[in-house]
Amino acid sequence: MNPKSNKENHWGSIMRRVASLLLVCGLVTSVTAAEKAFRPGEVWPDNNGVHINCHGGGILVHNGTFYWFGQHMIEGRPGNLAQVGVHVYSSKNLYDWKDEGIALRVSEDPQSDIAKGCILERPKVIYNRKTDKFVMWFHLELKGKGYRAARSGVAVADQVTGPYRFIESFRPNAGVWPINVPDELKEPLPAEGGPAPKFLFQRDHVGGQMARDMTLFVDDDDTAYHVYASEGNGTLHISQLTDDYLRPAGKYARVFPDCFNEAPAMFKHAGKYYLITSGCSGWKANAARLGVADSIWGPWQALGNPCVGEDAELTFHGQSTYVLPVPGKTGAFIFMADRWKPGNPIDGKHLWLPIQFKDGKPFVAWLDKWDLSFFK
Ligand code: GAL
Repeated sequence: MNPKSNKENHWGSIMRRVASLLLVCGLVTSVTAAEKAFRPGEVWPDNNGVHINCHGGGILVHNGTFYWFGQHMIEGRPGNLAQVGVHVYSSKNLYDWKDEGIALRVSEDPQSDIAKGCILERPKVIYNRKTDKFVMWFHLELKGKGYRAARSGVAVADQVTGPYRFIESFRPNAGVWPINVPDELKEPLPAEGGPAPKFLFQRDHVGGQMARDMTLFVDDDDTAYHVYASEGNGTLHISQLTDDYLRPAGKYARVFPDCFNEAPAMFKHAGKYYLITSGCSGWKANAARLGVADSIWGPWQALGNPCVGEDAELTFHGQSTYVLPVPGKTGAFIFMADRWKPGNPIDGKHLWLPIQFKDGKPFVAWLDKWDLSFFK
């Protein structure tokens, strides 16, 4: 055996090992680096490697942690009904999400408003500083009644991840007139058999206003608002909540009457209120809409579709659910949307895209992949 070639072999093999180690390290680093990115429309695994099951949701930032609440969906068509409840995930960086379990569970009691098999959609959670409670609102449809109930559900918890205790469901603002209608429309209900009310808010004055797709918005002064699709989805209502966030405070405005908006998501930037919504075509995607106002009570001005580029007229095959202000970065907002899969709802994908501004006007453009460094 030639000792020299033996030595060379030895060094060769060491070098090869070092090289492959470097290669592996390089790959690992690039994989890890690649993981810290948003990939709209793709499978988004949680800490267990399972696609995040949190649909129609919203995010609460509490004590430096993000909590993502949304509808837990299951496989197949029955998965569109609430078979489990509201799922919650936590994250420190918005990329990596830990499954924190079911925050609000549907009830096994068939008499409960939130009986298993009801429709429980678009849950949102806000924190009340005064009561030190976490308050969840959601759109509720009673089991077996299709979308006819049009109610709001409220649940509360002492801990952010729950368990949330269901309090009640109702149609908001019973007995209250909107602040922005002329006095002649503030008519009591026509007598039974009389002429039909001109507006559904008149019909529903006594029993409470219809409330379907919804979001919550907390203003800088801690006043919270419930924004919901009302009047047969024809008109949005913006409704102030009581100081404890548990009930409507008795003040609301009609917004974009007869424009049929759904999926509201509100944010505030440079003193202006913005509202992103969708049109009404069920699970099928349509064009998003943007509204702006100097006061939350309006007047609201329609600014058209905020999405630009290919598939903008279909909101990139998604529907708005929430706008997340990125903490610590002024003017940084994430547009969150759902790509629904009504045939197999558990498979619905999340679309997160940055909101950009051109001449002060927000817009959303598609990106295959992006991260928080996008916000300068
Ligand atoms: C959508 C709405 C969803 C869900 C769906 C049912 O328009 O935004 O939350 O209600 O209709 O068809």
